[in-house]
Order: sequence, then structure tokens, then C-alpha cells
Amino acid sequence: MHDHKRRAHAEFSVWARTYDAHWLNHFLFEPSHALMLKELRALPPGRLLDIGCGTGALAARLAQRGWQAVGLDLCERMLHQASFKLNGSAGSVRLTVGDSEHLPFATGAFDAVTCANSFHHYPHQEAVVREMFRVLRPGGHLLLLDGWPDQFIGRIVYDYVITRVEGGAVWHRESPHVRAMFHGAGFHHVTQKRTYSLFPILLTRGIVPVSTTS
Ligand SMILES: C[S@@+](CC[C@H](N)C(=O)[O-])C[C@H]1O[C@@H](n2cnc3c(N)ncnc32)[C@H](O)[C@@H]1O
Repeated sequence: MHDHKRRAHAEFSVWARTYDAHWLNHFLFEPSHALMLKELRALPPGRLLDIGCGTGALAARLAQRGWQAVGLDLCERMLHQASFKLNGSAGSVRLTVGDSEHLPFATGAFDAVTCANSFHHYPHQEAVVREMFRVLRPGGHLLLLDGWPDQFIGRIVYDYVITRVEGGAVWHRESPHVRAMFHGAGFHHVTQKRTYSLFPILLTRGIVPVSTTS
């Protein structure tokens, strides 16, 4: 395993048991899920992959809304916590261990892919966005949510505070960089929303073209 991935795996193996009670979960991660859910409201529920699903909070809420959700995460202990949470209560969520850079799914397998608060851990982000594109069907949507470090406050929060909390080796990208990755992978109709839920958050959406001319 790549060194940075090993590090993320170790970080979340330690953090897993207390993750849901952590202040970052209350003030950043959970409020950010509300934004993701709002963005997904206009889409008819279908097959959805939540990458870096952690303890499964977002996948659980999506399943309650009728999505057939698969939660994928690098860290078995995070998934262990997720399986407690999902036990019997969330409808259909399947959990699987995996690496965002090598998704164990067929081409075009999903109608939507979500990724919340996880992307900054990926050492090869362009490759991950290409993988996300690959597993989406034509017309499928990618919704990627992470810190928004473009402005002064964002830089303090992400490049200083969060990077320290997470022990370094994380990469929060500015919005033009994320947009360029989406276009580079082949996404069309790329849009971005920037919002503050105490912390500045960036949500980027892209759609897989239905044909090469769309
Ligand atoms: C801050 S948590 C976010 C969890 C969840 N999405 C949320 O919003 O609460 C980041 C998650 O990304 C996972 N992760 C880190 N690197 C990964 C990779 N290469 N592939 C899949 N998951 C990864 C970690 O194990 C962790 O569960």
C-alpha cells in the first residue's frame, strides 16, 4: 500500500471508535451531509456508491431515501462502526473495503457517486476522479464534497488546523483545481457550490456525458 494510504488507514483505525462523537463530526462532517442530501434531492433514487463512507452516516440517510447504496472505505474499523449503525435500520446499504483509486466495480455500475470529506486523503486524486467517472453510467452524477481552501479562512482552517488534526499528508484543493480534474476525467456540466456550515465547504458536481457529442 502507498505510504499516504497506509497513514490514512492507521489514522482512521485509531479514530474509528470515537469518530461519531468527535467535534469535527458535529461541526463539519454531519452538516456537510445535509448539503449533499439537498443536492441529491432532484435525482430519482437508484444505485449509488459512497466512497470513503467512514462510519456510514451519509449512506444510511441515502438508503432511507430509497437509494441502493454501497459504502466503500479503506479502513475496516470505520466500516465495522458503520455496520453497527446500519444494522437493521437503514434499508439497503452494502459495505465493502476498498481503495478509491481502484474501485472493485464494473464500468457504468452506478447512477450516482458521492464522496464526502475523504478526497483530501487521496495521494493520486486525478486517478480517483477517473475511476469515479468509469463506474458511473452515461448520465450519472458525481458529487464530491470537501474543504474549500480558496479564501483566507479556508486556508487557515484546512491548510493549518485540519492538516494538523489529521497529522499532515492531506491535500485540500482549490476550486479551479477540482474543476480541472473533473474536466480532465471527461465530466460535463461541472458546477460548484461553496458554502459555510461553520467551515467553508466546496461541493463539485459533474455529469458523465450521455454521448460523445453531449
Ligand atoms: C474524514 S472521514 C469521512 C467519512 C465520511 N465520508 C463522512 O463524511 O463522515 C474520511 C474517510 O476516508 C477514508 N479513506 C481515506 N483514504 C481512502 C481511500 N484511498 N479509499 C477509500 N477510503 C479512504 C478513511 O478511512 C475515512 O473513513
